[in-house]
Amino acid sequence: MTSHALGIEQMGWQRCQQILALARAIRNRCHRLPTLDRSVALAFFEPSTRTRMSFELAACTLGCRVMTFSASGSSIEKGESTADTIRTLDAMGFDAIIIRHSASGAADYAARFVHTAAIINAGDGCHEHPTQALLDVLTLLDVLGSIEGRRVAIVGDLLHSRVFRSDIALLRMFGAQIGVCAPPLLMPHLLRDDIERLPDAASAMAWADAVIVLRLQRERMSSGLVPSFADYRRRYSIRYEHLDATRAIICHPGPVNADVELDAALIEHERSMIQRQVTNGVMVRMALLIETLAPDCVEQILSL
Ligand code: NCD
Repeated sequence: MTSHALGIEQMGWQRCQQILALARAIRNRCHRLPTLDRSVALAFFEPSTRTRMSFELAACTLGCRVMTFSASGSSIEKGESTADTIRTLDAMGFDAIIIRHSASGAADYAARFVHTAAIINAGDGCHEHPTQALLDVLTLLDVLGSIEGRRVAIVGDLLHSRVFRSDIALLRMFGAQIGVCAPPLLMPHLLRDDIERLPDAASAMAWADAVIVLRLQRERMSSGLVPSFADYRRRYSIRYEHLDATRAIICHPGPVNADVELDAALIEHERSMIQRQVTNGVMVRMALLIETLAPDCVEQILSL
């Protein structure tokens, strides 16, 4: 059966655990990796640097044949639909189609049109971004040692964030206490009662063991959701002076709007895990590709 990776709940706790264990094993023993005789399509309908390059590097490192589709220059410009594009890639015989799309639900939708390819969600609209959550959790486990009972605050434009949705699903599976902080019009409705509401960035930093800062997603925003960037910065930006009152580490999925949601001076600060997150992204994506395309290799890698 094809094992799609559409979102954290759909993947389930055991599979997520296995991918994290594999990612650690790969990181420790890079020279014993399998070579996968598989073809992988990167179907990126939306811009990306980190996610696209790290999936590509992961697939190439595993010896896959990797082709990149980008909407610009493709038949999308002649009016072809997303469904037909996915059907076409499936018919060509790709073993995995890694999809990024601006429409929420695009990965689940794509899964309806394939017979053999595994669909991997690399971020769909405001919905999910499961590999980002996996690399975030791997980073938190590396630095904090454990996640159960730890306080993780997520600060920024939560409403438009697929990272937020995947992060809270996975952090909850790991037993984290979750806090949220966002301007009123960027705070999602219907959050569970056990989630701590934090009024501003300073209190989020003081409360948390780790703070995940999210970008103001101007491309998804209707106008007027924040009064002004100056106003946003005053209350919701993680600033250098917050460090004194906390030992919290700082994560951000990138790209960072420097001096908007996070002080530029914090990007490379020793408390910032941003580069570690990027490095872990490659490990997590290699692990997911092995687990999806060559499940028979998993036991062997884990037992090394
Ligand atoms: C995130 C995304 O694209 O959802 N970035 C990423 O994958 N590295 C977050 C964002 O764009 O703000």
